[in-house]
Amino acid sequence: MKPTTTPPKTYRVKSFGCQMNVYDGERMAEMLDAQGIAPAAEGEDADLVVLNTCHIREKAAEKIYSDIGRLTKGKTQTKPPMIAVAGCVAQAEGEEIMKRSPAVSMVVGPQAYHRLPEMLDRAVQGERATDTDMPAIAKFAALPERRRIGPTAFLTVQEGCDKFCTYCVVPYTRGAEISRPYSDLVTEARKLVEAGAKEITLLGQNVSAWSGENGRGHAVGLAGLIRDIAAIDGLARIRYTTSHPADMDDDLIAAHGDTPKLMPFLHLPVQAGSDRVLKAMNRSHSVESYLKLLDRFRAARPDLALSGDFIVGFPGETDAEFEETLQLVGEVAYAQAFSFKYSPRPGTPAATMDGQVAKEVMDERLQRLQAALNRDQLAFNQNTVGRTCEVLVERKGKLPGQWLGKTPWLQSAWFEGDVQIGDLVQVELVEAGPNSLAGMLRETVAA
Ligand code: SAH
Ligand code: SF4
Ligand code: F3S
Repeated sequence: MKPTTTPPKTYRVKSFGCQMNVYDGERMAEMLDAQGIAPAAEGEDADLVVLNTCHIREKAAEKIYSDIGRLTKGKTQTKPPMIAVAGCVAQAEGEEIMKRSPAVSMVVGPQAYHRLPEMLDRAVQGERATDTDMPAIAKFAALPERRRIGPTAFLTVQEGCDKFCTYCVVPYTRGAEISRPYSDLVTEARKLVEAGAKEITLLGQNVSAWSGENGRGHAVGLAGLIRDIAAIDGLARIRYTTSHPADMDDDLIAAHGDTPKLMPFLHLPVQAGSDRVLKAMNRSHSVESYLKLLDRFRAARPDLALSGDFIVGFPGETDAEFEETLQLVGEVAYAQAFSFKYSPRPGTPAATMDGQVAKEVMDERLQRLQAALNRDQLAFNQNTVGRTCEVLVERKGKLPGQWLGKTPWLQSAWFEGDVQIGDLVQVELVEAGPNSLAGMLRETVAA
């Protein structure tokens, strides 16, 4: 037992990892708001800090212990706060966190955070509590209504993963694939739009595996859901992430051609360019089937921007196999991509495979891969220079009068002008950098 404390008046939620964690962080914040606890002002101490963690790579997972240390030693704020650890590290290492870090009062997994208020009551009484249950879908029904929405919003439609790629912790930390019900999603999307969202990104660890039954009792997949959400007045843009090549059906490909609100962007991780490595990773696609799939998407939407994820140094990856990854990158010409050094994760099959690759080899491979990806990203951005396109204004820029928004292809564009956050404006792209473009405002379109 810890001594009893006064109930927290302010909170801060720090989310790491993927967009689904960001969504969960927002939902936890909404729950704390509903308890009458206020978000701590920028630069001020919070009475309660929720660390919403990621377990995907070792570095990400270890970060939480240094964060806890900094909070308790007064480095992050003057007074040590009450600490809750949420997210995927909580799920994977809950007991260990409790043992290793006496300063932590609550450990709550990604499927159990709807119970945070009740755990908080116990923590105030001095009781340390862990909840890493995985009840099917109970969480969403128990959460308060959506609010505090900017122009872009995330909407988790599917959780968990059944793919069991041999390097990945997600099937263990997030559990089996579950689709949220169609009607709940359409209702939540409407609420988000009423609260100001102009763009909704549908989220899932394996989002294209979403399935449900629409209001007329028909079975629908992600494309059906996208089309129905696109019918919501006031919503301008839809995106979705992350997809697995195995679950991309004809209807989803068709939706890219027939649903104008679905943005011309596809994040479709391939991970590696060698069929032998893909097999060892338990990815169910080959390089050829992946490229064929991309061709079909491009046929439906010729200006589609492509994005991907890559792992270098998977156990057993040879120099020649890594070269195949570079070759694939050269063929696809991604608009943007994420790339990582393989990180052995406890409990996953790849962690004990023969042929673990030396760190220096991974460093060198990552450098070469990132140079190629950066080159393609700059080329993609340069190719859009001269085009006038719609930009959704997301925030103020660093300089006075400057604004930052996103193009349909998810590029960041800076420009000056008399606009507001949430406006959809026509911007001519005039200069390309590797990570953003400079633009000129052409006309304001009614938001
Ligand atoms: N569901 C998505 C991505 C989930 S995790 C998919 O199937 O692609 C995001 C990315 O992290 C993965 O695409 C992969 O590139 C990377 N990743 C996952 N586990 C990893 C590990 N053990 N080491 C390095 N990178 C990893
Ligand atoms: Fe992990 Fe593979 Fe599932 Fe993606 S598809 S979350 S990489 S197991
Ligand atoms: Fe990380 Fe969990 Fe997302 S491990 S990437 S926060 S699903």
